[in-house]
Order: sequence, then C-alpha cells, then structure tokens
Amino acid sequence: MAIERTLSIIKPDAVSRNLIGEIESRFEKAGLQVVAARMIHMTQEQAEGFYAEHRERSFFPDLVGFMTSGPVIVQVLEGENAIARNRELMGATNPKEAEAGTIRADYADSIDANAVHGSDSPESAEREIAYFFNDSEICPRTL
Ligand code: TYD
Ligand code: MG
Repeated sequence: MAIERTLSIIKPDAVSRNLIGEIESRFEKAGLQVVAARMIHMTQEQAEGFYAEHRERSFFPDLVGFMTSGPVIVQVLEGENAIARNRELMGATNPKEAEAGTIRADYADSIDANAVHGSDSPESAEREIAYFFNDSEICPRTL
C-alpha cells in the first residue's frame, strides 16, 4: 500500500467546541501521523482560494463565511492510503448521512458546519498541501 499525504483541516466549529484532541486522537489511532500542523484564522481571500472549485455553487459565500468565522487547524496527515483513510474517518459531507462512529456523525451538526476537511484525491492533496505548507515545514516521521 502506498504511503500518502493528505491535507486535513479541523474547522471552526470543532475548534471552538474544544474537539481538537478528540479528532487528532482518531487520526493517530488509525495510524495517520501528523507531519505538519498550524493554527490559523483564514482570511476571506485564503478561504476563497482554498475552495475555488466550489466558487459557482450557491453555498460558496456561506462556506467562506463559516471557514473565516474562527481559527482552524490546518495539517498534513501521512500514512498508508492517507487520502481515503482520512475520508473514511471523516464520514459523509452531510453528518446526517455519515456512518456511525465517523468524526462528522459524532461531532458535526450540519452540512455547512461539518467539523473537518480532507483532500478527496491525490491531485487535490498535492494542491491543498502546497496551499498551506512549504516542503521545509513538513516533517516526515517513521514509527
Ligand atoms: P465538498 O467538497 O462537496 O464536501 P467535502 O468537505 O466532504 O469534501 O464541499 C465542501 C464543503 O462545502 C463541505 O464540507 C461543506 C460545504 N457544503 C455545503 O455547505 N453545502 C453543500 O450542499 C455542499 C455539497 C457542501
Ligand atoms: Mg471536498
């Protein structure tokens, strides 16, 4: 299996509800390692650029408003099949449809405030990691 990296964000709703540790714990227990991390409060421009693929969607202004409403943790997770593994741990975009035991089922209230972000493909992982981190800020680890 391939060792991959993926971009993860702990969103403002989860940060403000003191869920950083709970969420990181799930990644760690699943064998994903945090190899870069930073707390930021995104600017509107940063959020718009990050979610550029959704620019034409009706929910885009609300999404940008939510993502800039408070601090977030941006981070890089590394591990076997990290991209798909992270998406499994997150659960479906709409928490009402997310499988029991997933982060969104357990901690998210609504589709627009859904606790976490995770890259959805190798291409988006590459773009999203580079959006927030330089190579020198990523610290690969081995167990
Ligand atoms: P999307 O990339 O489809 O979901 P995911 O985060 O699971 O990759 O959408 C990005 C974010 O946009 C999503 O996490 C929450 C928000 N969003 C809405 O607010 N309403 C919607 O109908 C959709 C599809 C997304
Ligand atoms: Mg997405």
